[in-house]
Amino acid sequence: MTDLHQESSLVLRPGDKYRSFSVNILPEEPEELHLHDVRKERHFSLIHRPSVMEYYSDYLQTPQIVAMVGLPARGKTYISKKLCRYLNWIGFRTKVFNLGEYRRMKSTYEDHSLFKKGNLEGEALREQCAIEALEDTCLWFENGGEIAIIDATNSTRERREMIKSVVDEKGYKLFYVESICTDPEIIKKNITEVKVFSPDYKEKTTEEVVKDFTQRIQHYAEQYMPLDEKEEPDVSFIKLINAGESVEIHKHEGPIQSRIIYYLMNLHILPRNIYFTRHGESEFNLSDRVGGDSELSPRGKEYALALAKFVAGMNIPDLRVWTSVKQRTISTAEHIACPQERWKVLNEIDVGICDGMSYEEVAMKYPGIRKAREMDKFHYRYPHGENYQDVTERLEPVIMELERQSNVLVVCHEAVLRCLLGYFLDIPQREIPYIYVPLHTFFRLSPITYGCKVQHIKFPIPCVETFVPKVVFILYIITAMTLVVTQIL
Ligand code: SIN
Repeated sequence: MTDLHQESSLVLRPGDKYRSFSVNILPEEPEELHLHDVRKERHFSLIHRPSVMEYYSDYLQTPQIVAMVGLPARGKTYISKKLCRYLNWIGFRTKVFNLGEYRRMKSTYEDHSLFKKGNLEGEALREQCAIEALEDTCLWFENGGEIAIIDATNSTRERREMIKSVVDEKGYKLFYVESICTDPEIIKKNITEVKVFSPDYKEKTTEEVVKDFTQRIQHYAEQYMPLDEKEEPDVSFIKLINAGESVEIHKHEGPIQSRIIYYLMNLHILPRNIYFTRHGESEFNLSDRVGGDSELSPRGKEYALALAKFVAGMNIPDLRVWTSVKQRTISTAEHIACPQERWKVLNEIDVGICDGMSYEEVAMKYPGIRKAREMDKFHYRYPHGENYQDVTERLEPVIMELERQSNVLVVCHEAVLRCLLGYFLDIPQREIPYIYVPLHTFFRLSPITYGCKVQHIKFPIPCVETFVPKVVFILYIITAMTLVVTQIL
């Protein structure tokens, strides 16, 4: 079956790179807006929303440090990277500071003895790295960062006191995420599947890595002081035990820490794939119309049949299918024989007053809308409708469920699929509206070490092209050319 389909990896369209200007051009006001002043205000005041932090009270605009705690090979880097991706996706400017990377910039790794208690040189080196990472964290906040994740063992109270003293002095907030693993199989898997690729172990055999890393863990274990609410009564933390089998939470405060907890409680590390497709070509696609609730075109119906056959041939265990409540996604999934759920939050972006119009009609009637979307498609909200940021926000429960579940096929819409891929592939917000997601294409996402691999499977059923490329401004072309010329020189 697969030889009928063309496979490739996801690519953004060329010319999408150099775009980071801010927007202050508003569209011509559509007439209807004069009638609804409250909605008008909502529309215009939220056109430009650089960060969700703006929606939290002043008190909550305090920078937050999330510090990992735990022995080596407990998935701290995996958790840090995933959490960072999620927080950025929901709009918080978040960055990971990995202490191992600071160490590698200062010295070449020899062996586990670096981490041995009493190795004064090793201790001084690691302390220096911790100081520099904290300094960089402060710089990150000074330059607009909102959340910093310190990916390190932070396994002694002494080290945690050092972090706390900076947090207290600067008035930041601090939340610990401790990863505890008592399952030797998970630890072994982490060493043999992840640590073998660490830059510390270039040109080492798996046996050599396992031997050295096990001793490294041993050195840390001799000094490890897990978080303890009696010994550190004021700290806020979550303990994740055996990759999410159980959790313990202590004194968390505020909506940001609550969202972090909600997210971490849904993570699991079991192998699975997630599948996505847009609905088959619809009647509205044929006339280049947006919104509405049209049926599939004859070619769209053909795709629905081919999709069901293809999915059946894949024999995916326990597959579930989720669609939006729009007819075109329901019809696309109707022949797939497995449990199905309808999610309203998977509906396409609400195009407000443009619902049912063709792009040409929108351009004629509301030229300002097109202009404003070209300037900042992620933040531009359709009058009485949504922008990409709204879609991202309403998709959060879908992401949580996708993180919790095993194999799922999501049949959805162009903007929705872009937002979902934006999360899984860690694509910056401004690029999300330009991710190329053609019709009659099946996307397979499989987890890799610290992210996802995506494959396209293009079905040989003709369909219209709905992609609207980004307008590349002269300035950005010049920037790109300057970069190329600089590189050549
Ligand atoms: C490392 O140097 O690899 C990690 C340092 C630490 O977090 O203890």
